[in-house]
Amino acid sequence: MNISSSDLAQIAGAAGDSASRPLELAVVLPTYNERKNVATMVERLDKALKGIAWEAIFVDDNSPDGTSDEARELSLSDPRVRCIQRIGRRGLASAAIEGMCSTAAPVVAVMDADHQHDPELLPQMLKAVTSGEYDLAYASRFAEGASTEAWGRPDRVKASGLANRIANKVTGVELTDPMSGFFMLPTRILRADAHRLSGVGFKILLDILATVERPLRVKEFPLHFAARAEGESKLDQTVVFEFLVGLYDKWLGRIIPTRFALFGTVGAMGVVVQFAALWLMLSVILGERFVYGHWETGRMTFITANTVAAAVSMTFNFVLNNELTYSDKRLRGFGPLMRGWAQFGVTCSLGLLTNVGAAAVLKSMGIHDVLAVITGIVLGAVWNFALSSKFVWGK
Ligand code: GDD
Ligand code: MN
Repeated sequence: MNISSSDLAQIAGAAGDSASRPLELAVVLPTYNERKNVATMVERLDKALKGIAWEAIFVDDNSPDGTSDEARELSLSDPRVRCIQRIGRRGLASAAIEGMCSTAAPVVAVMDADHQHDPELLPQMLKAVTSGEYDLAYASRFAEGASTEAWGRPDRVKASGLANRIANKVTGVELTDPMSGFFMLPTRILRADAHRLSGVGFKILLDILATVERPLRVKEFPLHFAARAEGESKLDQTVVFEFLVGLYDKWLGRIIPTRFALFGTVGAMGVVVQFAALWLMLSVILGERFVYGHWETGRMTFITANTVAAAVSMTFNFVLNNELTYSDKRLRGFGPLMRGWAQFGVTCSLGLLTNVGAAAVLKSMGIHDVLAVITGIVLGAVWNFALSSKFVWGK
């Protein structure tokens, strides 16, 4: 009997061993503390992708629950499973980008590892993308026919008409769910522009659509957004906030990096908070009179009140930066929050020294006072930002 190589491939395929055929699809699954979801996710991929040569790439940010170990354990018996373990870094978007760039497969998908995204959609998405009719397929929580078990949270509302119109303008594509984390595209399209993606936050799909040279032809699939299987969500800020950050990042992020801009904005709000706290203590509580720009109060009272006000402002900065600037690395729980707050306090104190010291040096060099102060503020902010992003929100 004469058996050709295609027969062999068919036999192998029928036996479930699609590894003998060239890789068709890579599924990138960013993970943070998803150990309990890894094996079940692979089982569901195996079931959904029968007859397709696929690989699954878990991109894990060194999750404390041992997600990477679990993924590696699986890949020992199933080489279709791969694991990228990133040390000292966090972020859904950058994890997705790294995963997508790490495959040889001609088509790549990104999806959540917590079972909220249905892998049964993958074959249809693959068809749409490989037919040549579409450049990108994605699953929408708001398309006609979509449904959800997972709402209950007020932030999960459909992006407003205005947000949609802006997204439409930026990307040149009409989307019902520009923040979706479940999509697929030919790897070459991604790779051609991967160096221009920002990797901030989690609006990676929007980023891709806005970054690639030409408007992509997008096929939308209604998603049944399931409830999370195990563990808890890491992302919960408002869609609108992420959206605005995404726009800023796209247009101005290269001039002033997005995270620094957020950090600076929070800092500027902190200045207002400090004045408000000072006013509350001196004018409202102590009833001191405020005349010609100063409080008629004792020196010590003023210094004490201003110290408290600075601490209030610092705490405000810490909370807002934790919620917004570093939402992707947010500290949670009493212990980490207290530690972070203390570290942030130390960082800010050093930042203040930089701020005041730089201004003093510049002034002594004959630089105009206002310019010296502004330079001090900017240097202090850069210092605070550099230190806190390394030591407070570094891991
Ligand atoms: N590597 C890595 N690093 N993975 C992460 C990180 C991170 O810092 N943060 C979250 N992930 C992983 C999670 O483990 C999960 O597999 C997936 O990214 C989605 O995270 P969730 O924490 O489950 O997000 P969600 O369900 O609240 O958010 C959903 O809606 C967003 C838009 O509103 C998801 O569908 C997102 O993909 C989507 O962008
Ligand atoms: Mn989720």
